[in-house]
This record gives sequence, structure tokens and C-alpha cells, in this order.
Amino acid sequence: MIVSVLSPKGGCGKSTTTLMLATVFAENKDLSIAIVDADPRQSLARVWQSKRSEDTHGPLPFTVISDTSDSTILDTLDDAGERFDLVFVDLEGVAGLMASYAASSSDMCIIPMRPSALDGDAAGSALKMVRDAGRAARRDVKSYILITQTDAAIVTTSYKEVLAELDASGVNRFKTELMRRAPFERVMAEGRTIFELQKNVSVQRAINNAVQLGIEMADVMEASE
Ligand SMILES: Nc1ncnc2c1ncn2[C@@H]1O[C@H](COP(=O)(O)OP(=O)(O)OP(=O)(O)O)[C@@H](O)[C@H]1O
Ligand SMILES: [Mg+2]
Repeated sequence: MIVSVLSPKGGCGKSTTTLMLATVFAENKDLSIAIVDADPRQSLARVWQSKRSEDTHGPLPFTVISDTSDSTILDTLDDAGERFDLVFVDLEGVAGLMASYAASSSDMCIIPMRPSALDGDAAGSALKMVRDAGRAARRDVKSYILITQTDAAIVTTSYKEVLAELDASGVNRFKTELMRRAPFERVMAEGRTIFELQKNVSVQRAINNAVQLGIEMADVMEASE
């Protein structure tokens, strides 16, 4: 199964979502998990991994594959789809051939968005792109919006408006949100997985949040089989 995490909006949480979901699913030792980093900035394959190699955390619980080329990504995804039970694809924050190819190879696309009008607009473009890519490939590619970086303490007007609009439009959305939590940022800074951070209340909350998202995603996958 291939799951692409995409949106043309920079900074909406694609790489963080990819890393969290791969980490959470890798807890199930019966599953083989890979991340394909298709973003030329290589947030996971280069930046995150280079921080990690300075550390002594032992082997990664998932495989990281790097491919940033339009001309090879379809082969890379076909191959990864054969070799691994679950493949997460992290994409650059632009609309383009790479994102369309990834979407057309995917069973599911996750579209992260912060609760803002601008992210909502970008998510709308991503939804259309995935629909078109699925049509072109004659394949049923499901899209799910994931609300990210919401503040656990404050419910803003913009948040309420964006959610009301989303739910009225009938698009699929994960009920679990990836809240704004410091540990989600620490994993990037430290090259660790969320389970490798020094345990405290805040880390445990972030773990619970990520696990909850994984459970909801697993339920959705099971329901669509
Ligand atoms: N839920 C969160 N809580 C706290 N910080 C977050 C969260 N999600 C993302 N961030 C931080 O916000 C920044 C952007 O996140 P991320 O790199 O995941 O976005 P992206 O969509 O992959 O961006 P790009 O389009 O540049 O690839 C990073 O510094 C990340 O650590
Ligand atoms: Mg990224």
C-alpha cells in the first residue's frame, strides 16, 4: 500500500506527518515500512537522517529511500510497493509532475493543512490534483485531509470557519488532528523518532496524538479494502 503525503503549500506539515505515521506503523513488527523522500530538499532522507547519524539510537525502524527524479519515481514507487507493506511518500510543497505521479501510484493521499484560509485553498488544489491523477491512472485514489498544527489550548475563529467549510464540502478528513506540539518539532531537530525522545508528559501527549492518528488511518484503510 502506498500513501502519499502532499500539498502545494509549504510548511503545512507533510514531512512531519510522514515521519510520525511511518514511526507509529513501524511499532507493529509484522509490518515492513518505508519512507520515499521525493522532495529535493530531502527533509527526511538528508536533514533528519544526518542529525540522526550523529546519535546512537540504533537502526531505524523503517527504510528511507530517496528519489527526487520525475523520470524514475514511478519505478521507485512500484518497487517500494512490492517490497514493503506500507510506503509513505513525502513530497515537495509544489504542484507538479512529481506530485501527480506519486498520487497516481498511491492508494491513499493525505493532505495536511493548517486551519487557515490559505492552507485550505492549497488543500483544495491538492484534492483536485489527486482526483485528476486517479482518473488518468484509472485508479481509485482516496484523499484525506489532515488538520495540522492546531493549538490545543485555543480554538480560533479561523479554525472553526475552516472546519465548518470542510465538513460542509463533504471531503474526507481525519477526525484526529496533528496538534501543534513541541515534540513534533524536536524529532526534526534531534533526528530521533518520537519514541526515542526523552519521556515526559509533553512527549507522551505527542505520542498519544500520533498513535491515535495511526489507529484512525488503519481503520480507514481496513474499511476501504
Ligand atoms: N504538529 C506540529 N507541531 C509542532 N511543529 C510542527 C508540527 N508540524 C510541523 N511542525 C514544524 O513546522 C515546520 C514545517 O513542518 P514540515 O517540514 O513537516 O512541513 P512540510 O509541509 O513538509 O514543509 P515543506 O513544504 O517545506 O516540505 C517544521 O519546522 C516542523 O518541525
Ligand atoms: Mg517537507
